[in-house]
Amino acid sequence: MSNLSNRLIIFDTTLRDGEQSPGASMTKDEKIRIAKQLERLRVDVIEAGFAAASQGDFESIKAIASTVRDSTICSLSRANDRDISRAAEALAPAARKRIHTFIATSPLHMEMKLRMQPDQVLVQAKNAVRFARQFTDDIEFSPEDASRSEEDFLCRVIEGVIAEGATTINFPDTVGYAVPELFGETIRRLRERIPNSDKAIWSVHCHNDLGLAVANSLAGVMIGGARQIECTINGLGERAGNTALEEVVMALRTRSGYYNLDVGIDATQIVPASKMVSQITGFAVQPNKAVVGANAFAHASGIHQDGILKARETYEIMRAEDVGWTANKIVLGKLSGRNAFKQRLQELGIELDSEAEVNAAFGRFKELADRKADIFDEDIMALVSDEQQAQESEHYRFVSLAQRSETGETPLAKVVFSIDGQEYVCEGRGDGPVDATVNAIEGQAASGAELVLFSVNAISNGTQSQGEVTMRLSKEGRIVNGVGADPDIIVASAKAYLSALNKLHSKIERVNPQI
Ligand code: KIV
Ligand code: ZN
Repeated sequence: MSNLSNRLIIFDTTLRDGEQSPGASMTKDEKIRIAKQLERLRVDVIEAGFAAASQGDFESIKAIASTVRDSTICSLSRANDRDISRAAEALAPAARKRIHTFIATSPLHMEMKLRMQPDQVLVQAKNAVRFARQFTDDIEFSPEDASRSEEDFLCRVIEGVIAEGATTINFPDTVGYAVPELFGETIRRLRERIPNSDKAIWSVHCHNDLGLAVANSLAGVMIGGARQIECTINGLGERAGNTALEEVVMALRTRSGYYNLDVGIDATQIVPASKMVSQITGFAVQPNKAVVGANAFAHASGIHQDGILKARETYEIMRAEDVGWTANKIVLGKLSGRNAFKQRLQELGIELDSEAEVNAAFGRFKELADRKADIFDEDIMALVSDEQQAQESEHYRFVSLAQRSETGETPLAKVVFSIDGQEYVCEGRGDGPVDATVNAIEGQAASGAELVLFSVNAISNGTQSQGEVTMRLSKEGRIVNGVGADPDIIVASAKAYLSALNKLHSKIERVNPQI
């Protein structure tokens, strides 16, 4: 087998596979913000979306391709000329571009989903790669549901697409069925059996249904010889998610003596990336999540604390600051001026498009500083997200809220909000103040949507922290997440509910590539 390089490519698919999580859809501006952060993180390839999914996806990929210079930009496409042409068009402005085309190869998917014979799938896969080659030399091919596909058939398909010019062969464990040793060995056997396998870089793409995505990815690399890992920030992705970027990268770094692979990631950008993705999607990070969870570096037990004070290596295998945790420092306050605010935005990597946007965000900052003594980085990130949401979707807008709750009394909420600029004052009662608030809004908005998730998360430490609320609504098969932040969690809930209604109102329809 050929000599393998020591360079491991990190391919981030937060903006594509991550966005396929129910409710995680992002706007163009949000995607651009995340893409810029991924560039700062130095990921090698950013899968920016699926161009044929919707006009919004197409435009987001194009904008990212025009903005990001240091990472290769990739679009997913099914194995047909229309999808591939759309991907090529969206990627045209990119400094470096990749088309990622895929077709299912497992008996189940071919028969039940595609209703195609294996030979037809083989022809379509080869045609797709040949067609894509006219747009770029960087072509990735994925046999979807590879870990449940027949090996002989995989060999024929993969040999065929490499002969047509595929430069990366990705092995997706689409349904999270694989287990590490078998997964790694299958990839190794395929590489041995396929005569032209050394003409392509092999890649792994693992879903986390059995909690094995990171372990499978690492086995794919160490046993199988893969040199690209596909992953997402916070492990975001369909169902139980994908391989978490922060976990594979820190495993490779922390155990570099064993893995001996070069990874180009700037690990100090991991925590800022995690916070940004969580804030934008409304998917809170569980406290005990490896690397990026709030407790990942907290030592509660007396024995551990004592050990850490004597020598931190006693209980710590990584340093919090190496992955971008900073002491929760107060960054700005009531008296901070516009220049200090603007500088902090720059330091956080937040680029607002115009002076008008800076002014609007500064206005929100002043309002917040009037109500909250200490402003942390997390507060600034939340208020910028809020402002961007407001700029993009102005149909429903929060104005004010009053509520009364008392032990033994039914809570009452009075919410003032506008619909297309027209203000409404609505009252509602409910089991608790949040319920009363939602009932007040629904009394006027009458969306008919079903609330499927409500979660509250403290943005920073202490009871003075802003509460960040996520409300997930479902209506006619569409699922959206709304996020709102405020020192008053009832206000945050009203904002989150209105933000979700705005997303439902925007009616952005997307096609899921894998359906
Ligand atoms: O999980 C999967 O199979 C995918 C492919 C499109 C790579 O996301
Ligand atoms: Zn996937």
